[in-house]
This record gives sequence, C-alpha cells and structure tokens, in this order.
Amino acid sequence: MSNSIAIWASDQAICLISSLGNRWLHVQSVVEQARWVSQVFGESEGEYLMAAAYLHDIGYAPELKRAGFHLIDGAIYLRAQGYERLAYLVAHHSESQFEARFRGLESELAQFLREHSPLAEALNYCDMTTGPQGQRVSFEERIADILSRYGETDIVVPSYTLGYASIAASV
Ligand SMILES: [Fe+2]
Repeated sequence: MSNSIAIWASDQAICLISSLGNRWLHVQSVVEQARWVSQVFGESEGEYLMAAAYLHDIGYAPELKRAGFHLIDGAIYLRAQGYERLAYLVAHHSESQFEARFRGLESELAQFLREHSPLAEALNYCDMTTGPQGQRVSFEERIADILSRYGETDIVVPSYTLGYASIAASV
C-alpha cells in the first residue's frame, strides 16, 4: 500500500485543491520539499511524507468544510477514507493544538492521536520552509510572513507565538 499512497494523495489533492490558486502553489512546493527530505527516510516512510505533504492543507477544500478549521476538516476527510495515520499527521501538523484551543476545537482535535516521529517533524519542516505562494523561505521568514499576513487580533498570531518553540525544534 505504501508505494501507492503518495499517488493516491496526489490524486486527492489535484481533485480537491488544485483550483485554489496560491494554496495549490504552496502545496506543490511543500511536496517538492518533501521529495527532497524523503531521501533520509526509508521508502515506506518517504512515501508517507510525500502523501502527507500533498494532503496537509486538503481541509481548505470548500467541499470538506466541517469544523471550519482546515487541519481538523482535512483529518476528518482522511479518516473517512480509511487513512488513519495520514489523518493524525494532518490534524497535528505545525502545532495546531494552540489554534484549536483558541477556536474552541480542542475536543475535535483530540479525536486524532498525535504522532511524535521524525516524519511528523519533517512535515512541519517542509511546511514551515515553504511560503504562501510556494516560494522557498527560511523558517524565520515563514513565521514573520504568517504574523504579518494575519492581523494582530487574529487567533493565528498567538497560536504561532505559542507554537513557535516546538515548530522551531522540528525545523
Ligand atoms: Fe501548508
């Protein structure tokens, strides 16, 4: 199964989020980063990293909107498709726990186990070194961009402030 999981994920992403402009540019670039990083993993884990990269923002697909928080919406969809581990990885990437707490969605997030693994950290690395239009950026540039794109009153800002140390450790 592992050999085809990245292909399945790619098909899903093309089907559900390839019309989302910059979001799709970002995802494709995260996948490229994952392709490079996957060399340090065995074949099976490398395929999972590629799949998670394709799917990490799948919850932005309008038709998948449920809780209104893309990490949880993506995870709900992947669980329904029978890909439990991918659901875990997507639900918790980039320290989503803080934003989930601010959104009052802690219990929804808690329905997905958190995987502590090199693969989960590699996914954070790929996402956090890829800008919103798919440009390659440093981790510091990525965080600065997130903080400037969202207004001071947006819950994304304190969420990333709280999650900074753990994400930085992954990177
Ligand atoms: Fe992302």
